[in-house]
Amino acid sequence: MVDKKKYIGTLAQKELLRLYTKYVNGPKVRFFKAAGLGVIPGERDGIILKSLEGPRANEPPLELFNCRSSGGVFNLGHCNPVIVQTLKEALDEGLDLGDHQLLSEQRALLGQKMAELLPGDISKTTFGVSGGEAIDCAIKFSRAYTKRKDCVSAVGGYHGHTGFALATGDPNFKDNFLWNLPGFKQVPFGDVEAMRKVVDKNTSCIILETIPATAGVLIAPEGYFPEVREICDEAGAMMIIDEVQAGLGRTGHFWAIYGGMYPNEKVVPDFMVLSKGMSAGIYPLSTCSYKPFIEKAVFKDDPFIHISTTGGAELGCVVALKMLEIQSDPKFLDHVKAMGKVFETGLQEIAKNYPQIIKEVRGRGLMWGVEFYKEEHSLLAMISIIKEGVLLNYCGNKKDTLIIMPPLVVQKNELDEILIKIQNGVKKVKELGKK
Ligand SMILES: Cc1ncc(COP(=O)(O)O)c(C=O)c1O
Repeated sequence: MVDKKKYIGTLAQKELLRLYTKYVNGPKVRFFKAAGLGVIPGERDGIILKSLEGPRANEPPLELFNCRSSGGVFNLGHCNPVIVQTLKEALDEGLDLGDHQLLSEQRALLGQKMAELLPGDISKTTFGVSGGEAIDCAIKFSRAYTKRKDCVSAVGGYHGHTGFALATGDPNFKDNFLWNLPGFKQVPFGDVEAMRKVVDKNTSCIILETIPATAGVLIAPEGYFPEVREICDEAGAMMIIDEVQAGLGRTGHFWAIYGGMYPNEKVVPDFMVLSKGMSAGIYPLSTCSYKPFIEKAVFKDDPFIHISTTGGAELGCVVALKMLEIQSDPKFLDHVKAMGKVFETGLQEIAKNYPQIIKEVRGRGLMWGVEFYKEEHSLLAMISIIKEGVLLNYCGNKKDTLIIMPPLVVQKNELDEILIKIQNGVKKVKELGKK
């Protein structure tokens, strides 16, 4: 007899889709149904995610290698047993959210660990819940320190859905909300001259993802980030680096900006922002870390001027500390480097087999973008690859590119299987083209 679970599969998928449509988000349900993927995620374990039922009545449930990793949330896979055990122990000891107005043992310990790992002298951390919140914090603090308002970001970049974070983004994310803040400018990513032209005495900060994910997994030319650092120093602007997706070991180096892009390129920004992976897939937590000189400009007159009730929850801090311990281990990073090589070789091979369809494969470690010549091909490939059993998605601001981010704990035999499935999906696109 199949054991009935208490929380997963409580109702038939059809009924859950009806409830989701009625009470959460109807257009989203219609989007997935139209793609033949109208399913509800059910059991998850390691790097596998299963749907409750098949997309259609007579079809089996989907069983997917999660190569989305939700942008790094599932770096350690789903329900990593060490993380689950850590959370259970913390709950059993009586830890809870904690009170954000009070001081905190867990925030002190996590802050110390972050300072130990962060590049250069970045050593202070303000906690939040989501990535957008932590980005807002970094931009707010840059404004407080510089007493300037302008902010420069990259075309196609994405830093979140909240106030200042949203203002840094592309029009398609903000126009509907009438959200064009004055002084927020975008320049093409990787173009130093364009950056130099817009940065001036009004610039509070430059904000960049080290590997812009939503923009299409872009790889900056060597020397770009050191030059951006220089531009910031010359203009007296803050450099904010968003490693919500690319940090925490994703490139095979703990920080993408500090050795993860080019081995000899080690840049120390003024701010480092993290989220997604800080949760270890279990407990939401984001961090805005910065150099110590910034603290005085923000908190000196009022230590309660920036607060977040659920930011830096004590249970979340315990989880994040354990995650950092695991992911910063040199053996763990060596594993990511080795798996990254396997994945890169396999993806390049697929690109070589389909040169009429795939334009470029680019990335670092276990973060890869596959760019197609035609947007319709990338969308078709995405659906075919998901149906083959690998969950991935297109880049929100560059739909001709698929972003593929297996969990960092992926093993060689699993990558071999994933690569076969990706190749099968691409092959279907070619076959459809012939018809
Ligand atoms: C690079 C990057 N920064 C910031 C964010 C915002 O994070 P959140 O959705 O937790 O607000 C995201 C979310 O996808 C992201 O990819």
